[in-house]
Amino acid sequence: MTGQTHRPNLRFGDEQAPDATTPYARYVRLSELHSLQQPRSAEPSEYAFIVTTQVMELLFDLLHRDWAAARAALREDDLRTAGDALRRGQHTQDVLVSSWDLLAAMTPAEFNSFRPVLGEASGFQSSAFLRLEFLLGNKSENLLTMYQDSPAEYDELFAELRTPSLYDEALAVLARRGLAIPAAPPPPAASPTTPSRPPGAPSTPTRSSPTWRASARRCSTPPSGSPAGASATTPPSSAPWAASPAPAAPAA
Ligand code: HEM
Repeated sequence: MTGQTHRPNLRFGDEQAPDATTPYARYVRLSELHSLQQPRSAEPSEYAFIVTTQVMELLFDLLHRDWAAARAALREDDLRTAGDALRRGQHTQDVLVSSWDLLAAMTPAEFNSFRPVLGEASGFQSSAFLRLEFLLGNKSENLLTMYQDSPAEYDELFAELRTPSLYDEALAVLARRGLAIPAAPPPPAASPTTPSRPPGAPSTPTRSSPTWRASARRCSTPPSGSPAGASATTPPSSAPWAASPAPAAPAA
């Protein structure tokens, strides 16, 4: 800066729209965005409740992008990219948690004064939140029942259900580096209320599903340069963690 004060541009060349909106307003779709907060009651705090919920939904999507990027990078053993994505996700999570402060001043009486206009609506029905849970590995097929009449949400969640989770890919990275991986917990028994799948839909991924077997197969390929006979779960003797076998238990 040469001491000259920077003056923001107040006229916008050819981009000036006849409705006098700014390039910024067009880029952010401001008029649509501000048309989305539609309180159903006269209770002032309902507006804060709607804005908070919409902010959290946007942050759920942003978090999904970062965690999905981290998962994809882990699958490619690209730990630097995975680490960058997880760091971005951590900042998004910090904002997500602190966005509860937007409701910190709301009293139970204020919430209850507009609660009836929510009807059956509950954050429990947030498919974006559920998709994050599935991505992390907390998968529950029963919850898809809620979205059977909403094909777009159902398909998105079903796709997430059948994709190895961020946790699965993290374990696979460790296995490919010769670390002993704990035995996988048995998949939850399918309960009688499991929703009927659309025709042709693949079954839920379990540790015996082709999807997981594919990444598990990569686990069984010991890292290149490993001595003959080495396997994914038997760390090569040169591996720093290939500590000498545990000392024998002292005679009782
Ligand atoms: C005063 C504000 C709020 C109250 C009193 C409240 C209350 C509840 C309750 C009682 C549940 C359990 C499920 C149910 O009974 O429906 C729930 C679940 C949930 N709420 Fe809220 N909620 C509030 C605000 C929000 C906001 C702003 C969001 C943002 C998206 C949100 C997201 C969720 C989610 C994702 C669940 C499911 C949690 C899970 O499955 O573990 N809630 N909430």
